[in-house]
Amino acid sequence: MDKFVITGGTDLNGEIATSGSKNSALPALAAALLTDEPVTLRRIPRVRDIRTMERLLVDIGSHFDEDEETVRLHTPNIVSPEAPYELVKTMRASSLVLGPLVARSGRARVSAPGGCAIGSRPINLHIFGLERLGAKINQTHGYIEAEAPDGLKGAEVHFDRITVTGTEDLVMAAVLARGETVIDNAAREPEVVDLCALLSKMGAKIEGAGTSIIRVHGAAKLHGARHMIIPDRIEAGTFLIAGAITRGDVTVTGCEPEHLRALISQLEQAGASVTQPSAGALRVRVLAKLKTVDVTTEEHPGFATDLQAQFMALMTQAEGISIITETIFENRFMHAQELDRMGANIRIDGRRALVAGPIQLSGAQVIASDLRASASLVLAGLAASGETTVDRVYHIDRGYEAIETKLAGAGARIRRVGDKRTSDKQSSDKQSPDKLPSDKQPAANKQPEEASA
Ligand code: EPZ
Repeated sequence: MDKFVITGGTDLNGEIATSGSKNSALPALAAALLTDEPVTLRRIPRVRDIRTMERLLVDIGSHFDEDEETVRLHTPNIVSPEAPYELVKTMRASSLVLGPLVARSGRARVSAPGGCAIGSRPINLHIFGLERLGAKINQTHGYIEAEAPDGLKGAEVHFDRITVTGTEDLVMAAVLARGETVIDNAAREPEVVDLCALLSKMGAKIEGAGTSIIRVHGAAKLHGARHMIIPDRIEAGTFLIAGAITRGDVTVTGCEPEHLRALISQLEQAGASVTQPSAGALRVRVLAKLKTVDVTTEEHPGFATDLQAQFMALMTQAEGISIITETIFENRFMHAQELDRMGANIRIDGRRALVAGPIQLSGAQVIASDLRASASLVLAGLAASGETTVDRVYHIDRGYEAIETKLAGAGARIRRVGDKRTSDKQSSDKQSPDKLPSDKQPAANKQPEEASA
């Protein structure tokens, strides 16, 4: 398994470009199942989870080809409306095909995702929503079997809890349902808005994207479209925090500052200077002592849970005690113990973490437990004295495109080491890991088991 070896103590300087959003590309790829015409998606990040989704879509019946960051999908027919356990266990977002498959072919068989490192993460709300639209759903042998032979019918759906992929799954079902669907307490994440923008280009009638009430007027059929995916706000936020934790001068380009308001506000309260030198760019510098701030994760537009781990690493460098409260996932402090191994002083009290600082972190061997935890350990390694080895970086490859190359471009001393086989494979796949031969059905790729994200 690959590792990162990081020599800390260098302040980052320079520009770091943002890739397309993983969490926007995943539902957008699934949305291609909703039409028998070609869908072209641009700015698709070359990360492992995208590969898994592409593999799933090819198994379902999509023809697929790509170059650089553009993916073309064409699904003339749904050959097998199934998401098998082998794929779902490696990426729970595979459940995003449930809604499109039921809507397009009247049936779907999707493996239940099971638990994950950061929480139990059931998909009961996805099922509840589809049942409200008239789907008959059975759960047997670890699979969710959904049927709607006469098609779906629009309805009012109130989510008693905000769910991002639950909202996306239901919107994708509702666009081909008869009549109107109203989703109340919908997620307002930029990725939901981006999906609705794509579906509208495909001919769907959607109102209220980005608000907590989304109205979908079902259509008999959708057509093909071309769409550019939004930049990855979590990747951009990670690089802003990298600039702050190393007390460097970093400009993150190709991002959408509007999507990062909550983080920018917390960075400024902590004493960092965040400016916008040009459209789509954010510059971060720390010119004074960092102060601790208290952060509570919330649904958008609140502080993103996917930036909590990285911000915790930053707070180890700030003067005082910071209280970080995680409200979205019940088990998302796994990185705290690893940061403690680097000399941090963090006490976990249920859903709250108390971070005391400033502490000079010292390099150590640490293990990543999930995608964002691994990012926080990389940031801590950049600020630490001496050498840090981050193990199991396959987690980070799930959602960050060549992060070590991007950080090294701003002066970070970071390198990927792996066993000979992996590093050869990595170097040959640098452009696109697990390159899928265009328009062909490939064998499933061997991936580590955990299925967060
Ligand atoms: C999406 O996950 C993101 N993943 C996650 O990013 C992100 O952390 C999360 O939203 C919150 O922002 C993708 O978009 C692919 P939820 P999702 O449904 O949709 C509970 C990353 O690092 N819930 O909004 O799965 C759930 O357990 C990943 O890129 C139910 O109880 O999250 C959680 O506590 C990690 N029943 C809360 O709601 C349901 O049916 C919010 O989950 C669905 C969710």
